[in-house]
Amino acid sequence: MSDTHLRLGVNIDHVATVRNARGGAYPDPLRAAKLAEEAGADGITAHLREDRRHISDADIEGLMQVLSVPLNFEMAATPEMQAIALRHKPHAVCLVPEKREERTTEGGLEVAREENRLAHFIAPLRDAGCRVSIFIAADRKQIEAAHRIGAQVIELHTGAYCDAHAEGRMDDAQRELEALREMSAFAHSLGLEVHAGHGLTYDTVQPVAAFPELRELNIGHFLIGEAIFRGLGPAIHEMRRLMDEARR
Ligand code: PXP
Repeated sequence: MSDTHLRLGVNIDHVATVRNARGGAYPDPLRAAKLAEEAGADGITAHLREDRRHISDADIEGLMQVLSVPLNFEMAATPEMQAIALRHKPHAVCLVPEKREERTTEGGLEVAREENRLAHFIAPLRDAGCRVSIFIAADRKQIEAAHRIGAQVIELHTGAYCDAHAEGRMDDAQRELEALREMSAFAHSLGLEVHAGHGLTYDTVQPVAAFPELRELNIGHFLIGEAIFRGLGPAIHEMRRLMDEARR
């Protein structure tokens, strides 16, 4: 793959959400991950939340065994999650903020205020060979802090852009997009690898995919929803096509 290839990480959390609605074994997130892999996903992303509302410990164990593409393990910066990550040593660890009461990961991680703790937190993960990524808002202060603590990657939170777009607030969407574009270039200038994700759809992916510094998008909820209508493989193929078109 060339250096300009924009990787697509498919987040399978919400296959587990549907499974857990009935408490049984179906649909199986591991099967979805293998299908996503066959459809051209460059990586699989899974978030083991503290309350285990979707992905389970056994899912992470299974993913580590069956995947041929890298696993991007999303987690809160807690001792419990650090121990799990150090046991499995996934290709990538993405630190995200987590609140029990939220429906999804609503904002980026507050790195600037927690620099010391986070620097100590990520050191053993890096030593274990995990590529450490920090999920943050498009905010210069947070990016500088992520760089200082030794993160190799930042993932920019695209939720505010996508929400504004979905609600028809196009001026706000444009403003959010500009902030993402500017901070993508800024992070890259510091030597950070830049990723982005959250809330992306066929309607919102292209302006973000066009940022030249961007190396990876992580997309889940929309793709799993779209899979109901067209199947997971075709849903991923269409996202891939739109991403490639935006890069040209
Ligand atoms: N990236 C990160 C860090 C996330 O936490 C999530 C959602 O869990 C995503 C990407 C994917 O977001 P969505 O499911 O809205 O596509």
